[in-house]
Amino acid sequence: MDLGALRAEIEAAIAAADSPEALEAVRVGALGRKGRITELVKSLGALPPEERPRLGQAYNELKREIEAAIAARRGELERAALEARLARERTDVTLPARERPQGRIHPVSQVTEEIVAIFADMGFTVAEGPDVEDDWHNFEALNIPPEHPARQMQDTFYLESRDAQGQPLVLRTHTSPVQIRTMRAGKPPFRIIAPGRVYRRDYDMTHTPMFHQVEGLLIDRRTHMGHLKGCLTDFVRAFFERDDIPVRFRPSYFPFTEPSAEMDIGCRRSKDELVVGEGSDWLEILGCGMVHPKVLEAVGLDPEVWQGFAFGMGIDRVAMLKYGIPDLRTFFEGDLRWLEHYGFLPLEVPTTYGGLSR
Ligand code: DAH
Repeated sequence: MDLGALRAEIEAAIAAADSPEALEAVRVGALGRKGRITELVKSLGALPPEERPRLGQAYNELKREIEAAIAARRGELERAALEARLARERTDVTLPARERPQGRIHPVSQVTEEIVAIFADMGFTVAEGPDVEDDWHNFEALNIPPEHPARQMQDTFYLESRDAQGQPLVLRTHTSPVQIRTMRAGKPPFRIIAPGRVYRRDYDMTHTPMFHQVEGLLIDRRTHMGHLKGCLTDFVRAFFERDDIPVRFRPSYFPFTEPSAEMDIGCRRSKDELVVGEGSDWLEILGCGMVHPKVLEAVGLDPEVWQGFAFGMGIDRVAMLKYGIPDLRTFFEGDLRWLEHYGFLPLEVPTTYGGLSR
């Protein structure tokens, strides 16, 4: 038996083993119960006693060498496997972090949320109506007579199609028709606000053909003008985040309220600045009044039992005032730089207790 050749053969097999499984197969072939070296050791018993020590020593030496070679190869394979895994799972921590895209909340959305938060605290819920209205909801039921200037083509967008009764359809010119829809759909008392888009044919620094209003409606038994004044005074003070804002109510006219008023807030005007909440000038901020008996009758409510107040306010307009935005047209241009500047951080939800604007 040529031990040198056997050793060389097994060592070559060890070197060629490229996985733990292949290496284990080589080990079993050499040192397992029926392995070639094991068989050699077993064969010692059949030899003449004087030959046993020399051959026994040589076999044992071969066995130890092969065991050592297998252990070394196993170590190599484990290291290689670890290296491969580390390379696979490598993270380049020197890469710059990806800049998180930062969206902005549009001032109209922000201010709408602020208004909703304040009125929600006073027990109002949010109501909605369609942008395409019929003549009855937008005008007729609100006691707006046919010859009223608001109905003129130069103010109102009329659609070519008509409703089932053959009446003209319009893009709603105000959010007031939501009053009608709310009162027709439910039972009093009512306490709602209705923010939304409205449309008029107008375009300059403070007018765009589409803009936003919020309507308010409160109907209950024995409601009076004092409720209206208290509610709206509380509102503007919360909205402009100043408890000392001077307010006044001026008599006015709207077909759907009687009496009607416009609410002004105190301000200071200089050449190129407008400060809200102090000073000796006045700024109109909304229209309001006690709901007209004819409006209540149009929706089937008895004006002797139910009364209430309503108001309408321009959302874009109060956004411009509160946040010092000079031109309404920029609201709807979709310029990302403008939005970056005037927009609000997402997730900073306005609440009356946590702060309306931060
Ligand atoms: N609808 C009116 C407008 O668009 C605003 C308004 C005024 C609404 C008085 C009201 C109100 O509910 O009571 O100009």
